[in-house]
Amino acid sequence: MRSLTTVGTLLLLSLLPASFAVKTHDWKTCSQSAFCRRGRALSERARATSNWKSPYSIDPASIAISPEEASLSASVKSSLYPDIKFQLDLKVHEDGVVRVRMDEVDGLRKRYDEAASWALVAEPDVSKSIKWQVGKKDVRATYNGITVTVAFEPLRIALSRSGREEIVLNGQGMLHMEHFRTKTPAVEETPTPEGETPPEEQVQKVVEVNPRAWFEGDEDGWWEETFSSWTDSKPKGPESLSLDVNFPNHGHVYGIPQHATRLSLPTTTGENPTFTEPYRLYNADVFEYEASSTLSLYGSIPLMYAHSKHSTVGVFHAVGSETWIDVAHPTEKSSHSHWISESGIMDVFLLPGPTPSDVFAQYARLTGTPSLPPHWSLGYHQCRWNYVSSDDVRSVQKRFDEENLPVDVFWLDIEYSEEHKYFIWDKKNFPDPVEMMKDVEAIGRKMVVIIDPHLKRTSDYPVYKKASELEVLVKPPSGQGEYEGWCWSGSSSWVDFFNPKSWDWWKSLFKTTQQGDNWSWVESSDNVHIWNDMNEPSVFNGPEITMPKDNIHYGGWEHRDIHNINGMLFQNLTAQALVARSDPPKRPFVLTRSFFAGSQRISAMWTGDNLGTWEHMAVGVQMVLANGIAGMSFGGADVGGFFGNPEPEMLVRWYWVGALAPFFRAHAHIDTKRREPYLLDEQYKSIVRKVLRLRYSMLPVWYTAFRETSVTGVPVLRPQFVMFPQDDGGFPIDDQYYIGSSGLLVKPVVQQGVTETTVYISDREPYYDYFTDRIYRGEGKHVTVPAALDQVPLFIRGGSIISTKERPRRSSPLMKSDPYTLRVALNNNGAAQGELYIDDGETYDHRKGDIVWRSFQAERIKGGKGLRIASTDLAARHPDEAVDGVALAKYNKKNEFANSVSKVRVERIIVLGLPEKPKSVKLEGGAALVWEFIPGVSAQGQKYGGPSKLIVKDPDVSVVSDWAVLVE
Ligand code: NOJ
Repeated sequence: MRSLTTVGTLLLLSLLPASFAVKTHDWKTCSQSAFCRRGRALSERARATSNWKSPYSIDPASIAISPEEASLSASVKSSLYPDIKFQLDLKVHEDGVVRVRMDEVDGLRKRYDEAASWALVAEPDVSKSIKWQVGKKDVRATYNGITVTVAFEPLRIALSRSGREEIVLNGQGMLHMEHFRTKTPAVEETPTPEGETPPEEQVQKVVEVNPRAWFEGDEDGWWEETFSSWTDSKPKGPESLSLDVNFPNHGHVYGIPQHATRLSLPTTTGENPTFTEPYRLYNADVFEYEASSTLSLYGSIPLMYAHSKHSTVGVFHAVGSETWIDVAHPTEKSSHSHWISESGIMDVFLLPGPTPSDVFAQYARLTGTPSLPPHWSLGYHQCRWNYVSSDDVRSVQKRFDEENLPVDVFWLDIEYSEEHKYFIWDKKNFPDPVEMMKDVEAIGRKMVVIIDPHLKRTSDYPVYKKASELEVLVKPPSGQGEYEGWCWSGSSSWVDFFNPKSWDWWKSLFKTTQQGDNWSWVESSDNVHIWNDMNEPSVFNGPEITMPKDNIHYGGWEHRDIHNINGMLFQNLTAQALVARSDPPKRPFVLTRSFFAGSQRISAMWTGDNLGTWEHMAVGVQMVLANGIAGMSFGGADVGGFFGNPEPEMLVRWYWVGALAPFFRAHAHIDTKRREPYLLDEQYKSIVRKVLRLRYSMLPVWYTAFRETSVTGVPVLRPQFVMFPQDDGGFPIDDQYYIGSSGLLVKPVVQQGVTETTVYISDREPYYDYFTDRIYRGEGKHVTVPAALDQVPLFIRGGSIISTKERPRRSSPLMKSDPYTLRVALNNNGAAQGELYIDDGETYDHRKGDIVWRSFQAERIKGGKGLRIASTDLAARHPDEAVDGVALAKYNKKNEFANSVSKVRVERIIVLGLPEKPKSVKLEGGAALVWEFIPGVSAQGQKYGGPSKLIVKDPDVSVVSDWAVLVE
């Protein structure tokens, strides 16, 4: 039965203004956004004008080099506005990253310059060894084969490596920082040349007659702009920033998520563009988004990588306002991009690479690495809008257990709350929330409950009441009172998390014990974690379903200045609240829909309201890859598709996709039919059981991959260009990926009715089918592999050792003491390696050194005939890079956690690809072991060969100790 509040939501859905039924035309195109229109017009004019030269230049006399020498500042002028002053600052960081900042000086107002302070982990250290050299035409710095050149006139900044230009700013003269001005009566019309002058000459003439008008166009949308029924008052006038960023020697660009599109970004301008609109970054709640589009989605990361065989470089622009980015590929080997932001300073970081791992590390040093998630959060999450009562939750849990379907987390969507007053239980349907949670927690499971950012404006809601008293709510354009908008809770207001006064209060809300007279969530538990949705923010009756841009935040900044950062602050404060909730603290899990650069430090994301279609399944994979390379590794798409009722085949495929993504959650819209896996017919249910068990058996692989990402920033899911940066055959590929450094290659199947598919293999190593052990070889080719519904193309790259836990359990905490299986997949040289990371999965003790981090090595011995498989302590060898971005203060191999798992064994070692049957298998310095050998199958007469397989049964070694097995 549906709850009353559910009915309320349905009513709301049907009563919502037409704006809720968003279609593409509810979103601005570039030509409907004045600053984008101006920026794009500038680029069109620049392209049409052969002798156009950027008006911006540096005054060489103004160059000042700081005592530490790697920082430089200079005055910049525009020949069109000689009275307006700009300042350019360049800094070379210790790791070779170059920061380029430009701002207006002594302007009528101040531009928003705080985006970096939210995105960066810390102010980066400036190099102590790099010196700028001032010449007649430019100033340059050279280090590690890189030269950064700042040309004076026109201003042009280039990063070159070994003499080849890799990143160029303002190479096409599209830099334009619109300065602040006072509103004056309309200026004279741009003189247009008379007569039948051909278009190119016409433009030429305008340039000569009135270059200012040529450069800026007329006062198009400077002071006010209307879209649909909304008017943006724009009290600050024009302040946009246009900048061309070119990669003359890189044919592929990636990044700038989130968009539903290919990983290698298709062209948006020039000849034969795939898309005609620029990629837009403006966090948005787009209803029923398209599966192929440049439209903005929920999160924005202004980070672009350019890649070629020679190098990978990156550009990160710390800007929080709406940004549009055109991409062009003038040749197969070069890429252009044009960035147009509505407000803010220029704060661009040039990441010199030269490898993908280097750019990830450079970006991670700026904005942080993903923190190590709680281990249970890598299990399976069961969600739907909505489990309608506490008994509903209990019965769903019961059905999972009856059917032996593992699950770690049950989720509650908005209908748990009374009238969508988040935190407040709807007691009619959830009369006993604490008991319900205890029932879920019984075998270590968790709950995730939604907390949205809109607060119902009613005095009987303590959360709203207190926020109002504290005056921490976002203000309307007048700057007075509280902004009021419409969301699930009806008339609502939003906390302004930019206001420091909101921080401690928000954190106090999550305390599960009474805090004096202040309201806090006592009807909760330390095992309840949080889902932050609608934080773009979504405002049903706002322009483009969000807040008006002229709303006012703390410090007097307009919403336009911080829009893309806004959701991250909500997510951040919620995570901090969960950490502060218990003593000792536990790692928080927060799922966010909106995100910005830096969000990866805090929580997981998902790709929002996807559709139950094959196209959405496919693009979801690409989106998770794109988010991952931009830092947000912990991501996934709603399994099953949010909208629609997927047929069993699609649902099963979606489970495979989800089980092989970092974040694995099934979710469904309120109008969909129930689709928990136990409802499937046996033939499909048994496959989903297999899928879930695969996920649980692979948890050691996922957790180990997350450890690495938490230190290096290299994404958990690695596309081909990341794994094989020199193989250009792989650069466009975005439908398959590797999991961490494990050597596992995944090709999700996202088409209906297929029984086989192809997978691209870049290198010469053998690839072993994870399930059948068959060997595939590709070396720069696609190979055909089986892909019936009950299997997924999953391969172990030769040279890898995979650790799994193979005993089926109902939840991940029950697996703590289960033994490991090691799969040793030998490479062409008969060797392999792998690693395993474990800790308590919940607390921060891992940062003190309470960890187990092992290296497994299989090496040939005795003239190549034998094999030695050894386990050694990696944490002792590399305490500096142990985990979670922190060096271990002191590491003791007998730490408390290691002691707690010292009895956990390796129960099986499987070796694939031994050249011949061994004579003996024993523990080094110990007893003979029990083993079985299955000879390899020759490829002759068959499509593919199968390798030999040695199964060492129960070597009786602990996962925490050093040991070696000799295969001779
Ligand atoms: C929108 C979210 O994207 C969706 O996942 C959720 O179910 C609904 N809001 C209701 O909370």
